[in-house]
Amino acid sequence: MADMNFTGPEPDLQDLLAARPPLQMHAQDGLCLEGVPLNAIADAHGTPVWVYGAATMRARFAALRDAFAAEGVPMHIHYAVKANDHLAILNLFREQGAGADVVSIGEFLRATKAGVAAQNIVYSGVGKSASELETALGAGIGQINVESAEEVEMISGIAMRLCVVANIALRMNPDVDAGTHAKITTGLAENKFGIAAEDIPALYARAAKLPGVKAVGIAMHIGSQILSTEPYRLAYEKGAEMIRSLREAGQSVEVLDLGGGLGIGYQDEPGLNPSAFAAVVRQVTDGLGVKLMMEPGRYLVGPAGLLVGSVILQKQAGKRFLVLDAAMNELMRPAMYEAWHGILPVGAAAYQNPTTPADVVGPICESADIFAKDRQLPDLQPGARIALLDAGAYGAVMSSAYNARPRAAAVLVDAGGFQLITKRQEIAALWEDEILPRT
Ligand code: LLP
Repeated sequence: MADMNFTGPEPDLQDLLAARPPLQMHAQDGLCLEGVPLNAIADAHGTPVWVYGAATMRARFAALRDAFAAEGVPMHIHYAVKANDHLAILNLFREQGAGADVVSIGEFLRATKAGVAAQNIVYSGVGKSASELETALGAGIGQINVESAEEVEMISGIAMRLCVVANIALRMNPDVDAGTHAKITTGLAENKFGIAAEDIPALYARAAKLPGVKAVGIAMHIGSQILSTEPYRLAYEKGAEMIRSLREAGQSVEVLDLGGGLGIGYQDEPGLNPSAFAAVVRQVTDGLGVKLMMEPGRYLVGPAGLLVGSVILQKQAGKRFLVLDAAMNELMRPAMYEAWHGILPVGAAAYQNPTTPADVVGPICESADIFAKDRQLPDLQPGARIALLDAGAYGAVMSSAYNARPRAAAVLVDAGGFQLITKRQEIAALWEDEILPRT
């Protein structure tokens, strides 16, 4: 299995900055996101704090939309809520014209709370409970991507009880290696996701006959952080072939949902190019006559987010450890996937100083609580701030309160200003839902 983590030479501080136009270094103000000094945000709201750039998210959405427009391919973009489920961000993508892709009733209700119409929501996932399906169907969800024969029967029963008809797409597992990290690949036969190609025709025919459901098409999602168009081409060719053979068998197929997974550059690997992706989609779906949908998450939000932390102390113990006030409970990706995230000092002065290797760690009592090993960084004294880059996707959503650490605040940068969009959790809120047993 390929490793999703690029292993080339590490980019230095200047390389990291140069590759990220939303970030700028100002001689006085230090590191800025979309022109707003991170120091001003940290002064106002403390650290650790998530910072998201609205213009960057809008620009990435536009780049994807325009790439399809340039190919003449009408594409319905459903933002994958799991990447970053903040109401402010769901609202931002809704304003750009996106629908939503959800995997739980919590995500569904979040998306509707942010104003996304139920009709524009797709419900994916390998295990949706009866009560979740009931709520979603009762609210008029647009489409459910089904992952098993058992689920088709379940949805039919619930929809009949509610007197509604559920639009369902069968998620086909194309058995294609997405060439990404084993923990985030989903399109191999061994993965728990989707329905094997050979089982699709019979299940599609069964669904076409069942009351309460309407089989509208085929869905796919082969994995995440995919950096090459080739696995997509292979998977989508199999999807297109399936659609043609279903039609030959007399079935009606209106929809092809292409999933998400478009990778971004974390180290200095180039991210997936939206134009190259759109060209593959056009080539493979030309003349197919289906409504095309997709469910990107990381591509839209990953590069737009930072986690800003402060150095608690610089520990010298044979090697240098930079101990931050941010930890794996905020950003889990390095601990969980050995993911590489760029780290930049926020203060301008640090950029003048020589760098030496340091392990950048959090204060949690786990050896896995480490953001970077032997990273070339300048001397950073207690109180110095640093930014962990490309943390907009699968950052805050995967955070926990481990070690009784309250949830960090979040700030949205927009139009040269910034606003708090999540209050830092009060420590007492950590136990406010707990009930002491009566004695
Ligand atoms: N659609 C489905 C059915 C999915 O399962 C996913 C992601 C997406 C869309 C969006 O994928 P994206 O465009 O964001 O790659 N926590 C991991 C990533 C897990 C992805 C899970 N599924 C990480 O931090 O890398």
